[in-house]
Amino acid sequence: MTSHKTSDAAQGWTPDSWQSRPAVQQPTYLDPAALGQALAELSSLPPLVTSWEVNNLKAQLAEAQAGSRFVLQGGDCAESFADCESTIIANRLKVLMQMSLVLVHGLRKRVVRIGRFAGQYAKPRSADTETRDGITLPCYRGDLVNLPEFTAAARAADPQRLVEGHKRSAMTMNFTRGLIDGGFADLHHPEYWNLDWVEHVPHANEYRERVEAIGESLRFFETLAGQTISDFNRVEFYTSHEALLLNAEAAQTRRVPRQPGWYNLATHFPWIGMRTAAVDGAHVEYCRGIRNPVGVKVSPSMSTEWVLQLCELLNPDNEPGRLTLIHRMGNGKIAQHLPGLIDAVRARGHQVLWLCDPMHGNTQTAGNGLKTRAFSDILGEIEQAFAIHADCGSRLGGVHLELTGEDVTECLGGARDLSETDLERAYRSAVDPRLNYEQALELALRIVSLKGAVAGA
Ligand code: PEP
Ligand code: CO
Repeated sequence: MTSHKTSDAAQGWTPDSWQSRPAVQQPTYLDPAALGQALAELSSLPPLVTSWEVNNLKAQLAEAQAGSRFVLQGGDCAESFADCESTIIANRLKVLMQMSLVLVHGLRKRVVRIGRFAGQYAKPRSADTETRDGITLPCYRGDLVNLPEFTAAARAADPQRLVEGHKRSAMTMNFTRGLIDGGFADLHHPEYWNLDWVEHVPHANEYRERVEAIGESLRFFETLAGQTISDFNRVEFYTSHEALLLNAEAAQTRRVPRQPGWYNLATHFPWIGMRTAAVDGAHVEYCRGIRNPVGVKVSPSMSTEWVLQLCELLNPDNEPGRLTLIHRMGNGKIAQHLPGLIDAVRARGHQVLWLCDPMHGNTQTAGNGLKTRAFSDILGEIEQAFAIHADCGSRLGGVHLELTGEDVTECLGGARDLSETDLERAYRSAVDPRLNYEQALELALRIVSLKGAVAGA
């Protein structure tokens, strides 16, 4: 084990020091004055989260790293401004809460709930431009930047969308906090869980029994305590998004009273995507200096040395809870790539939390051209991840999922065995395919019955 230098993580760092590094995936704004005005507004509006919430999350991630919690991070691939709507927000929160209860019950440990929302409005793209019928326009980079329609006006990067995104994130968080404070009564009543799909799986009885048992446990606890669970234990819910548009992230990076350093107060848990993880790139430079816990996606195309350098740069003091490596290998590649990486990270003495993103390495194109993922690949990658971590003497600390609370048909398989033709019925994602309500709940129920999950998690 090499010793870690106890450096000041923020040495030579400022919220804008990333500007001296190559910043990929950034839109081109044609009116710098308008951009400056929007960023000034962003930096003066109240923040979306507080530093003490950020610190609490970091402490909980440290507990997950130590094995006493399990992380459930989930939400849309990309939120759209139109998704800032009460039903969509409530349904997404409901499925995440139900999944987390299943995980608490099955894994016998507390769950850290992190939404992939309230700011997940910008997307990395494979090309900067798109050409149709001889016309080339900037690509669509998410609602925080421009609009998907293929016209020059829609595709122009509009800085006011940064301010609009902040407002919609605030509204999303406000409603989410309200629902959680209200206790979300549906959770206690299995009869309000939509379990119609269970009829289609061989383990129907086992699943019904587990959901019944969760309801029973909650009612028993409430009787015993003489209080509702929400009075007794305020559920914590955290937000996350890919820290992609660095101008906007920097504008929301602030000092707070009586705390050292700088916090990104636009989200609790920013992560670095696969396309922006260059060691000498702007995104790593920005993230290395903030006090938030940060995640970084790890793909099969990244060398071990690259990942080790990321650990060194992003967590030089080896602070527990600070760095999460989110591996997204694919069901067919995880067995080849993950074990060596786990061994190398451990050999260098880096303390990290490991999460499995079983979505982004399992994307395929269906016969009808739709982008999809198979439930069996998603489950298969998670199953392998538990086993590989256990074999390497490591621990899988959680999962990172793309899901929605709606009845969409974007991923194949699951209890209803959705086929390629089913995909056309309710395919709504503008980017990556998400698990629907039933598939997401089924996945949680399958995770807790995986061999190795309870012991290894
Ligand atoms: C994502 O999480 O939506 C994403 C683009 O992932 P990755 O950076 O791992 O490809
Ligand atoms: Co995605």
